[in-house]
Amino acid sequence: MKEITILDKTFVESISETNLQARIADLGRELNRDYAGKDPLVVSVLNGAVLFTADLLRHFEFPHELQFIRLSSYHGGLESTGQITPLLDLRGDLGGRDLLILEDIVDTGNTLAWLRQHLLSRGAASVKMATLLFKHEVFKLDQAPEYFCFRIPNEFVVGYGLDYAERGRQLRSIYKLKA
Ligand code: XMP
Ligand code: MG
Repeated sequence: MKEITILDKTFVESISETNLQARIADLGRELNRDYAGKDPLVVSVLNGAVLFTADLLRHFEFPHELQFIRLSSYHGGLESTGQITPLLDLRGDLGGRDLLILEDIVDTGNTLAWLRQHLLSRGAASVKMATLLFKHEVFKLDQAPEYFCFRIPNEFVVGYGLDYAERGRQLRSIYKLKA
């Protein structure tokens, strides 16, 4: 079992690079079917979704625009704070556009709910979300993300874009906090 230490915590590998890339390719095929003939605005949520975005986009066969959004809600530790404000917002008119949000992880669903509301209030015709990881046990909304690669238990994870105190984003696998 691969182990790594980041600052004061030890993590063990939970999803390998091979498994990540295989599921991302599956998701790419699913999106190619669902978005055939469309031209969505892909909204990647900084910073965590950067690696997922780069790898997933390379499977896309439909035209799309890419923009980034950055939210403040999370302050580097192991717990979310709940308060969300945009630090970097989308440019231009969203009126009538189909939006596909790319996220690293959906936990309680607070961020997803806030994003849906924010983007619909700016006139988007539809807002869907594809997330790499889905902590389904803690999710508390009715409407789940439309697409996800992996459902995971309620454990803190790092790697492949996800950080612990802004460290560990470069890791090619997902690691979970060692019990
Ligand atoms: P929710 O769905 O609760 O998720 O709004 C809020 C944000 O929390 C972050 N998050 C994590 N980040 N490891 C991380 O590195 C985790 O296990 C984890 N769980 C939640 C993530 O930024 C998400 O957007
Ligand atoms: Mg984070």
